[in-house]
Amino acid sequence: MRLHKAREVIGVPRVKITDTTFRDAHQSLAATRMRMRHMLPIIEKMDEVGFFSMEVWGGATFDSCIRYLNEDPWERIRTFKKHMKNTPTQMLLRGQNLVGYKHYSDDIVEKFVEKAYENGVDIFRIFDALNDIRNMEFAIRVAKRLGAHVQGTICYTISPVHTIESYVELAKKLEELECDSLCIKDMAGLISPQAARDLVRALKKEISIPIDLHSHCTSGMAPIAYFAAIEAGVDIIDTAMSPFAWGTSQPPTESMVAALKGTPYDTGIDLEAFAEITPFFKEVRRRYDAIIEDISEMVDVNVLLYQIPGGMMSNLIAQLKEQNALDKLPEVLEEVPRVRKDLGYPPLVTPTSQIVGTQAVMNVLVGERYKVVPKEVKDYVRGLYGKPPAPIDEEVKAKIIGDEEVITCRPADLLPPQLHQLKEEAEKLGIIKKEEDLLTYALYPAIAVKFLKGELREEPLPEKREAAEKEEKGIPTEYVVEVDGEEFNVRVKPVGGFIEISQAARAAQQKAPPKDVEGGIKAPMQGMIVKINVKKGDKVNKGDVVAVLEAMKMQNDVIASHDGTVEEIFVEEGANVAAGDVIMAVR
Ligand code: CO
Repeated sequence: MRLHKAREVIGVPRVKITDTTFRDAHQSLAATRMRMRHMLPIIEKMDEVGFFSMEVWGGATFDSCIRYLNEDPWERIRTFKKHMKNTPTQMLLRGQNLVGYKHYSDDIVEKFVEKAYENGVDIFRIFDALNDIRNMEFAIRVAKRLGAHVQGTICYTISPVHTIESYVELAKKLEELECDSLCIKDMAGLISPQAARDLVRALKKEISIPIDLHSHCTSGMAPIAYFAAIEAGVDIIDTAMSPFAWGTSQPPTESMVAALKGTPYDTGIDLEAFAEITPFFKEVRRRYDAIIEDISEMVDVNVLLYQIPGGMMSNLIAQLKEQNALDKLPEVLEEVPRVRKDLGYPPLVTPTSQIVGTQAVMNVLVGERYKVVPKEVKDYVRGLYGKPPAPIDEEVKAKIIGDEEVITCRPADLLPPQLHQLKEEAEKLGIIKKEEDLLTYALYPAIAVKFLKGELREEPLPEKREAAEKEEKGIPTEYVVEVDGEEFNVRVKPVGGFIEISQAARAAQQKAPPKDVEGGIKAPMQGMIVKINVKKGDKVNKGDVVAVLEAMKMQNDVIASHDGTVEEIFVEEGANVAAGDVIMAVR
């Protein structure tokens, strides 16, 4: 690896530390909003501590830089590299999904990994949500060819098919692919001390590359699990500086260093090394107070009861609120494990957590399981995300995709090279100033155009104290708005500096569709009509897809329930509808 100084200490069995403050910690606690200018003054001090590595890039940071911070992510990694002379930089890469949410073609993956390395990434932690090695293999090979350190990853979850043997088998395959180290990625904070001890012990017997344990404090067990794993021989642990630790983030760096001091597992780091760093991050944290939710700082019992990670729980609650059905939460919590079982026990991490969660919500809201199925769930069942850990329930599969063929090849094998065409498009748009801009465009085509044209602004940081002061002064945050004689309750709350008005008020701007019409095709749930596939006078057959409804960020086909002619269409594309609203009349 290209490093200026080696940090290896020979002879003493030491535990090494990967500090995650600049990536996972603020992704977990502060919605990935930490600005480069707030990190910059401390990077060199952090570089002197003696960490094994610092995770600074990848995961959601790339997306967040562009979407919210108006920062060039490529500039960010170059800056980190410039100020880190001793410590390797590390990124989190979602295998064939890179830092996006879908599979990209191999030529995009290759170019992205090359440019990431060139701009300063030393260690690539590469994972796949389904632990499908075919989704990791290509990125691993490219990074290895470049001479980077590759950390192959196991996504840790609990299910009848996720046995120690299955994890060991995956780890051996990753070692065969010449990964330089292995990461046990416990993204939900589920791993118990005993499970950590057993898993690390079993892995240590079968593989010889160093092992890293990455966990979150969500369930409160992470520091204890770390110690059990250390006793079993784990080489590296992931921690975050204390002001950005605990809760849904990692255990605190300072505490772990102190706990191991003077033991055979001493990290070799002096607590004095943090004298300036800890107070610095306390100050940074104050800036982000307003966006750190209290709930993400507390132990979450639901993770232990339902294995639902913190981020997914807040998503479920938001989805149910949007559908005015928060009272259905207990049913949804019971449905999630059933859906996960039906779908072959995928680990719950982006994007499988959304796939399982949304389907569970739909099953409960519609009142019939798998009657409404979003496109993403269909694609999952078709094999387009990779091979599920266990076979999908046959009956459920038939209900979702009928007798359609499931793909058995590597999903990316179905994707033709895309870079050339994207390059032509981007050049026509005049947005390419450097080679990396093409990758930014390939990953986020919609937002990248505005970003690269310089049309985006940084989202303002809300001030907690200011908001509190306003409340004290009695500035109202709830209003009653009257539209066409109808009254709507509107609550105004600061969201990243923007003002969000309740859906009711937005819906009121359009004419409400009828609820009861002969031959009416109804919206199965609250959402937005993104596409209408038919026009007045068209003949449709039962089962035809007549419209597409976007609900809970997923696309759902609206199906004709009977044969007939489209006699009237009550909504336009872009219209918000409530559950039971008639979209069109087919008679
Ligand atoms: Co994590």
